[in-house]
Amino acid sequence: MSSPASPLLSLSDAPFPTLPFDVLVAIRCEDAEGLDPRVSAAADAALASVNETRELRGKAYEVFWLPVSAAGWQARRLLIVGGGRQADLSNERVRRLAIAAGLAVRGRRLERLAFILPAGADSPAHVQAVAEGLVFASLDVDIYKTGEREVAPLTAAAIVVSAADEARKRALERGRILGLATNEARLLANEPSNKLTPRVFADRAASLAADAGLSVEVLDESAIEALQMGLLAGVGQGSVEPPRLIVMRHSPPGVTAGPVLGLVGKGITFDTGGISIKPAEMMDRMKNDMSGGAAVIAAMRAIAQLGAPIRVVGVVAAAENMPGGRAFKPGDVLRAASGKTVEVLNTDAEGRLVLGDALWYAREKAGATHLVDVATLTGACVIALGRVASGLFGTPDWWVERVRATADRAGDRVWPLPLYEEYAEQLKSDIADLVNVGGRPAGAITAAMFLKEFAGDVPWAHLDIAGTAWVDEPKPYQPKGATGVAVRTLAGLAFTGEPWEPGPTA
Ligand code: BES
Ligand code: ZN
Ligand code: ZN
Repeated sequence: MSSPASPLLSLSDAPFPTLPFDVLVAIRCEDAEGLDPRVSAAADAALASVNETRELRGKAYEVFWLPVSAAGWQARRLLIVGGGRQADLSNERVRRLAIAAGLAVRGRRLERLAFILPAGADSPAHVQAVAEGLVFASLDVDIYKTGEREVAPLTAAAIVVSAADEARKRALERGRILGLATNEARLLANEPSNKLTPRVFADRAASLAADAGLSVEVLDESAIEALQMGLLAGVGQGSVEPPRLIVMRHSPPGVTAGPVLGLVGKGITFDTGGISIKPAEMMDRMKNDMSGGAAVIAAMRAIAQLGAPIRVVGVVAAAENMPGGRAFKPGDVLRAASGKTVEVLNTDAEGRLVLGDALWYAREKAGATHLVDVATLTGACVIALGRVASGLFGTPDWWVERVRATADRAGDRVWPLPLYEEYAEQLKSDIADLVNVGGRPAGAITAAMFLKEFAGDVPWAHLDIAGTAWVDEPKPYQPKGATGVAVRTLAGLAFTGEPWEPGPTA
């Protein structure tokens, strides 16, 4: 399977009439006087009439189409996108505006656009965000449709700025790479489970890794057995599709000391719940229970392509959670690779099991000194934070704060939840070291407390993306399907340039 197509992205500071694109996209804020006069010159008369009728208010994501009427302009259409309030034109807002504009242009079957950033909101960070957004909007998700496409491909996109300097060009390239990585994760997470089994997932990871210059190792069921990874093996044993542990490494030449960032992902290619089977309604959605793993694979690719200065290892625990004659059962006791024993009270709490062994592997076998895991882990997290923010957990506080700040910059919304030691009470077993479910109260937290048992003493953070990995109710800036959440956060962690230990005040 090839990589997703992407538009030819460019940066321009040419005069607007000369821009050779079908559509000029301009942002109109609700508290601005009007459009930049250099833009409104494209359709002066129509805009005067629109101003009179007050149809155009500039509310965020509102779209308004006008034909270009001025003589001598290359573009045929002007697309005005509402920007909300000027003070709110953050990187995240312009990324979303770029997605909304890209999707609107494609929906009109137009293929080439120039996105004009307002002077004052055209920093390198804004350019990067728009590049990410335009690449995001260019992805075709209907890959199994056989008829004619309803939307056009986005073939070319320019970002128009006050000066096309080196810093902005580098930002464009970063945005392109991060946007493409996000799309890789979306494509993987959209795949149905009959197309993406653990073995296929590992093959896809291997080919994505190889052409980015990462090394990759795939542990099969006998290697998993040999390492006594009883949690991963236990979850995988009910399926005819054997589990895999996918290990990817970014090792910059000459770097032999310093931190090793460990990114760990849940890669359940389908979660039926196992013997504790899920209800039929919405079960199809559980094909995306490998979104955390997809985010890790995609982030590793971006990390390699962008040349991160530190060593990074990605570990994805891939398995299919099925009921059947060989499946693990409620009441079973599994032995983790770390040596801990787990009494399985519910086979549907499988994510924490496979992650337990993957965290151990990242730390003990792959040398990770700092850990972040990502998983569609609990329905309880969706109850706590809805579909707006991912749950953030971990220890110590400085590391959790590092992940929070990085997510913020990346435009992934995350919010911290506590891991007070009292919660560990809920994970006590009568016959083993731990149970795998802690009851209804604080379900997202007790799941994280379970993972903490396998993170050892290294700084560790956990992102629960159960609510944010998938969109059912589309928005102008958020199409249905897999979102690629956490890819840019994970990649960003390899580039913060901050020390890998607590500062003097932490
Ligand atoms: N993959 C699910 C979590 C999930 C639920 C993701 C909804 C996305 C949307 C996970 O494996 C699971 O089933 N968790 C159970 C845990 C429970 C049995 C303690 C849950 O959240 O219900
Ligand atoms: Zn489950
Ligand atoms: Zn699951």
